This record gives sequence, structure tokens and C-alpha cells, in this order.
Amino acid sequence: MAGPDLETVVQAGYGFDGPVLEIGAAAIGGKTHPAARVRIPLQMVSRHGLVAGATGTGKTKTLQLLTEQLSDAGVPVFLVDIKGDISGLGAPGQANDRINARLEQVGMKDWAPQAYPVEFLTLEKGGRGVRLRATVGSFGPILLSKVLQLNETQESVLSLVFKYADDQQLPLVDLSDLRATLNFLNGDGGKQAMAEYGGLSSATVGVILRKIVELEQQGAESFFGQPEFDVEDLLETRAGRGLVSILEVADMQDRPKLFSTFMMWLLAEVYHDLPEVGDLDKPKFVFFFDEAHLLFEEANKSFLDQIEMVVRLVRSKGVGVYFVTQSPEDVPPKVLAQLGNRVQHALRAFTPNDQKMIDDTARTFPTTKLYDVATELTSLGIGEGLVTVLGPNGVPTPTVHCVMRPPRSLMAQLDPAAFAAIVSASKLVTEYAADVDPQSAKEMLAGRMAEAQTQAAAAQVQAQAQAAAAKTQAQIEKQYAQQAAASQRAYEKAQADAARAEARDQARAQRSSRSGGYSGGSGGGFDLGQAAKIGAEVIRSPAANTLLRGIFGTLTGSPARRTRRRR
Ligand SMILES: Nc1ncnc2c1ncn2[C@@H]1O[C@H](COP(=O)(O)OP(=O)(O)OP(=O)(O)O)[C@@H](O)[C@H]1O
Ligand SMILES: [Mg+2]
Repeated sequence: MAGPDLETVVQAGYGFDGPVLEIGAAAIGGKTHPAARVRIPLQMVSRHGLVAGATGTGKTKTLQLLTEQLSDAGVPVFLVDIKGDISGLGAPGQANDRINARLEQVGMKDWAPQAYPVEFLTLEKGGRGVRLRATVGSFGPILLSKVLQLNETQESVLSLVFKYADDQQLPLVDLSDLRATLNFLNGDGGKQAMAEYGGLSSATVGVILRKIVELEQQGAESFFGQPEFDVEDLLETRAGRGLVSILEVADMQDRPKLFSTFMMWLLAEVYHDLPEVGDLDKPKFVFFFDEAHLLFEEANKSFLDQIEMVVRLVRSKGVGVYFVTQSPEDVPPKVLAQLGNRVQHALRAFTPNDQKMIDDTARTFPTTKLYDVATELTSLGIGEGLVTVLGPNGVPTPTVHCVMRPPRSLMAQLDPAAFAAIVSASKLVTEYAADVDPQSAKEMLAGRMAEAQTQAAAAQVQAQAQAAAAKTQAQIEKQYAQQAAASQRAYEKAQADAARAEARDQARAQRSSRSGGYSGGSGGGFDLGQAAKIGAEVIRSPAANTLLRGIFGTLTGSPARRTRRRR
């Protein structure tokens, strides 16, 4: 096929008015045509995209190239550094023969080394960069279920637990808050709440608890907590250039799900925070989702639905999302269908399955008379890709074999000193450094449980006191009755004695009147008033008082005070 055909097709298909990202020059039959410039309209960058290709084919450098031009256009960018090699964005590139040869090949005349404003983010406590933390509450049950690898039943239980915490105004800040809430619901105090919320089975709560412990054992506590990262901090421009935020996850190979879900959290937060804007001249923010296959692996339906929804809706907020993965098949069809801009680096056909994947991928590109797409996909060189993007009218551009431009920043890992200098100059690093342990579900539940215990103990003491008082009262009454009976008996005896004495006196008087003498008064007789006092004196006796004090004393530990208060 002749070169001019290609140039005509590309100039017609890619000759947009307005600002563009220049990505390279079209090639055909092993010949590159610098005049056939392949570009993406800046205003269409928020229509999302896919950068795919086998390992070592140029995906990361493509991200670097796109990022640089977005930053130049004042658009902030977020990306993940899996291998440490995108950190080079923070330092100027170095011209060398290979770069010069490529510049020549693609006809790029204005290449100059350039460093970009970068912030490094880290998920690790003590990691290098701005600490990226989320609260368990804002992470939400769906993302957390994905991290914990919960099945759907367990996920629905976790959702109820989140609802319970929400209803009870128990902030779930870190994993220990979630653990405390689960423990509370699983314990005696939480049984009733469990019943009210229906469907909370003790066994399932137990499984979730175990999975949380496993996650904590992997050191995941450091990702959850406060201060929570504010996504506004991703949206900066510095000296006119968009900030490039790079999440460093080189040391997270063993916990890939965690960082992929963290990226999803960030994206959801961005969606949440940004206002609706409609069509803009340029995106507000671009998000590169590297190693995207990790996100979709073993994803259940609710998780996939959430991703699909966020990706769909975030576009109207001016945010472009680019998935980066080895094969387009890693991305679920509903998400793939939303990715308007495509750079497909080389695919390798080793097995019949690979061949099928290549044929399927080829079919997703606009048909072209210029190339046999499937063959082209396997013959692309490093740093070359099959490209189709969305034109300003929303129509896909012709499929073209593109030789990518080289980035202007360093195409290698940033050296440790330069890295350290960026981290130590960062205000955000300081701002997010210290963990904050606020009054949250753990403390609040502990407080509530302690209060419930105190109340229960107080109620018990009161009940004991009432029982003892009743007993004392009964004893007093019994004793009073005994004393009253005794004094009654004494009184009656005294009366009988008095009557006898009187009878005796009378008899004596009669005898003496018969004999003429009178003794006058009651001489050896009995005083009646004295008899009535006897009963009362017994009750006031020291022996009775000792008895009363003894009983109250066992209740209060302070017989004197207690008896005094009762008076
Ligand atoms: N646009 C480009 N300009 C110049 N050289 C490039 C370009 N793209 C890729 N290369 C060369 O190819 C090498 C591999 O590219 P890159 O690291 O981007 O591959 P990758 O697909 O990200 O690999 P992996 O899957 O291992 O992460 C680079 O180190 C660089 O030498
Ligand atoms: Mg790479």
C-alpha cells in the first residue's frame, strides 16, 4: 500500500483543530511518515481510554508521553508506579542516540528535556511520599468486600454492619473500629441489634472478623485511618503545569488487590467531589489505572457494577480514565465499551488462545483497508501501537499503526537522591505524615459497653440495698414486736402486782382500821408510770443499736453514715 494513501487518511482523520496530544507518526509497511501525525483531541481525552500490550512493548512510556502533554496543558494526572520506572517524570530526559533516532523517525523537532511537577504517594506507613489513607467508612462495604475477598452473603452482612454503624453514628475510621463493631454485634450486647438488622449471622460475622485479622497481618492497617487523603490534593497545577501524582507501589506485589481497590476508591472519591461540568475544552483530571486486570480479577457483580458506574459518570465531571493492561480482554465488556481512545501495543501469539484473543482484539478496531489489523497487532515494534481515538464529533478515527514519540522526561527510574529531594520538599508529605486516632467506633463502643456495665452494677447494688433494707426492717419489726410483747407482759405483771399490793394495802388498812392504825402511801408498793417506760428503754438499749448498725454496715461499709442518713 502506498504511503500517500496513509498520509491522506491520517491527515483527514487526525487533523483536528484545537489543542491535541501529539502521540506519534503513522507507519505502514515498515516505513514511518512524519507528516502523518497521530493525535488525540484534548477535549476528547475525558472520553476514557485503554493502553494495552504485552510486557515490554511500551505501555509505560505511552503513559509517560500522555502524562507530560496533559501536564503541559495544565491538566493534573494520577498514575501508579508498579516498577518504579514512571518516577522518571520528575526529572528531565537525557538525549541519546536511540531517542535522537526516534525523534528523526517521527519528525519531532521540538523535543527538549523537561521535568514535571510530581508528588509521590505511598500506602505504607513510613513509605516514601504522601501517605494515602482512607477511612474504612469512606471505603465502603463494596470495596472492602473486594479487598477482604468476601462472598456475596458475607458482603451483604458487611453492608448491614456499615448500616448499623451509620445508624448508630459510630464512625468507622480504621480496621480496629470495624473489628470492634463486629465484635460488639457478635457479643451479648449486640445480639438484639443483630436481630433488628436481620440476616446478621454470628458465623458470618466470625468469618469477616477472621478475614480482617488476616488483612491486618499483611500490614493493611496503615491504609485505613485518618487523616484521610483529600483528592483535592490531586487536582493542583504548579506553575501552569498539571500536578503528576504517582502512587508508588513497587513494594506491594504481594497485595495487588489492595492497591487496585485503593485506586478505585480514589476514583470514586474524585467522582464524588467534582461537580458536573458537561463538555470542556480539556479534561479536569486524568486517571491512569495501571495493572487494571487486578481490579477486575475475581470481581463480583456489585463491584463490577460500581466500577462501570463510576467510569460512566465520571466523564461528565471532566475526568478521563485510562485502563492499562496486557490484554483488552482483561477489561469487562461494559467498561471496555466506554473506552474511546485506544493505544494497543504489540500482542504476542504463543498459544491458540492468544491467537483468538488477537483476532477478537482486531475486531474491536474500526475496519481499515490500510492494514490487516490482526497481523499488524503481532508485528508492532516496541514503542509502537495501533491507535484509534475519538474525534471531536465523537466518531472513532481510522485505525493506524503509530510510532510513538519519546517522552521528554527521564525514561528510567528516578535516582534515589532526586526522589528523596522531591519527597522532602513536599508540603503534602508533612501534612499527611502523622496518624490520627480519633474518637471513633472502637472507643465509642468501649465507652457504651463500660457505661452499660456501670449501669448494670449500679442496679445490682441498688437491688441488694433494697433487699437488705427490707430484711433490716423486718428484723426491727420483729424485735419491736418482741419488746412490745415483753413490755406488755411487764406492764400486765406490774398491774397485777399493783392490784395485789392494793388489795394487800386495803386488807391491811381494814385490819388496822379495825385495830385503829394507817401506814399512808404505797411504801413498799409499785410506781405505775415506770412500767410503761420499760419497753421503749429496751429498744434504745446499746444492744439493739449494735444490731442495726451491723446490718447496714454490711451494705455500705460505713455503718455510722448509713444509719445517720436513714434518720
Ligand atoms: N515512546 C517511546 N519512545 C522511545 N522508546 C520507547 C518508547 N516506548 C517504549 N520505548 C522503549 O521500550 C522500553 C520498554 O517500554 P515500557 O517500559 O514502556 O514497556 P511496558 O509495556 O510498560 O513494559 P512492562 O509490561 O514490562 O511494564 C523502554 O524502556 C524504551 O526503551
Ligand atoms: Mg510498564
